[in-house]
Amino acid sequence: MTVSQQVFLRDSMRRLNLTRDVFAARIGVKRRALDTWLLPEGSQEFRTMPEVVSRFVTEIVQNEGLLQKYAQSAQSGPLRDRIAYHGKHQLLSVDQFTRESVEDLFRIADQMQPIARRQKVSRVLEGAVLGNLFFEASTRTRVSFGAAFCRLGGSVCDTTGFTFSSMAKGESIYDTSRVMSGYVDAMVIRHPEKGSVAEFAQATNIPVVNGGDGPGEHPSQALLDLYTILTEFSRLGKLLDGAHIALVGDLKYGRTVHSLIKLLALYRGLKFTLIAPRGLEMPDYLLEETGKQGHTIVQSSSLEEGLVGADVIYATRVQKERFAAEEIEGYTPDFQVNKAIVDKCCGPDVIVMHPLPRDSREGAHDLSVDLNHDTRLAIFRQTDNGIPVRMAIFAVLLGVEGLVQHSLRDVTWSPPSHIGPDDSILHDMD
Ligand code: CP
Repeated sequence: MTVSQQVFLRDSMRRLNLTRDVFAARIGVKRRALDTWLLPEGSQEFRTMPEVVSRFVTEIVQNEGLLQKYAQSAQSGPLRDRIAYHGKHQLLSVDQFTRESVEDLFRIADQMQPIARRQKVSRVLEGAVLGNLFFEASTRTRVSFGAAFCRLGGSVCDTTGFTFSSMAKGESIYDTSRVMSGYVDAMVIRHPEKGSVAEFAQATNIPVVNGGDGPGEHPSQALLDLYTILTEFSRLGKLLDGAHIALVGDLKYGRTVHSLIKLLALYRGLKFTLIAPRGLEMPDYLLEETGKQGHTIVQSSSLEEGLVGADVIYATRVQKERFAAEEIEGYTPDFQVNKAIVDKCCGPDVIVMHPLPRDSREGAHDLSVDLNHDTRLAIFRQTDNGIPVRMAIFAVLLGVEGLVQHSLRDVTWSPPSHIGPDDSILHDMD
């Protein structure tokens, strides 16, 4: 087997669209045994699956693959060509993905996990330079894109804010983009205006990734959010088709939910409950698009009613920087997702997500910290997933995804077994 056991099994379940329970029954093993085979190698309860199981799973996947071969022939070819934006290897919108191509990207992200978890290193992007251009505040997107590029062997140059860029001297987006293209091999751009990253992309032939364009889109965030949902559902034995997703908060200006609802809509028969303070509702065009794809949309102004039966609660911060302070009140306390309301409305296998940052200031009423020790809170597993997903994006856009598996070497240093103080409770959950 050229990939890890965990990647092989996850990939097989995804291709067959089976939950862990059904997959275990299909291959005739106990769910508990399958769970131990799905743990990361090196974790305490990890077990190697018998060779006969591996051969059997390969056989089933290949047969299913043959059946689907003709149906999928239209989607063949390198992933970066299938997701290209106007013929260029750029990632500007989640509209570039189909369900098949997004799951292909996630198979590559799975292969990146040993690197993201500091078990292996790779140098497939050695010599390549990333330009990180962030004209708006960021911690996660800027640093995780940079770290993802470095973990593939590349290096990073960055500039933050308008003040320290020549845009402060009146330089146009076109000139900045063309100049940067002479210095770096790929760019990630965050800019406060919707559509601005597409303008950068027009002025260059190097890969450009949209790191957030005002209230427009945040495709890499939505990709890592979907990857997190699928990974958590796999652990919980759930399928995304037919799931109930509650999106809570600023759905008007929150670009992460704009990208996420479009990506989720690639699946079948979802129920979306949209819970927003007055004036911050999801834009109509997204409601129309999602409705046309056969999903159920319920809009609610009551958190308590809207969360009942949810499989995923996705909370967002009020994007105060995008409107005048007096225009909208923001969250009142009854919009706060906290332990009491999650306990009251949802079951033990709900997952609570947030793109972060959460606004921890008094009176903000953003996602409560009282869920921090609750395993249903997935926000740090979500941020950790930013690395393998962003590594996969770079590997695909730069055409090196096929080289990663054979480039892996063991790490030479000793990373801590749990990177966060609360992670030990969750260790081996994956
Ligand atoms: N989720 C997100 O975009 O975070 P940053 O603003 O810190 O990049």
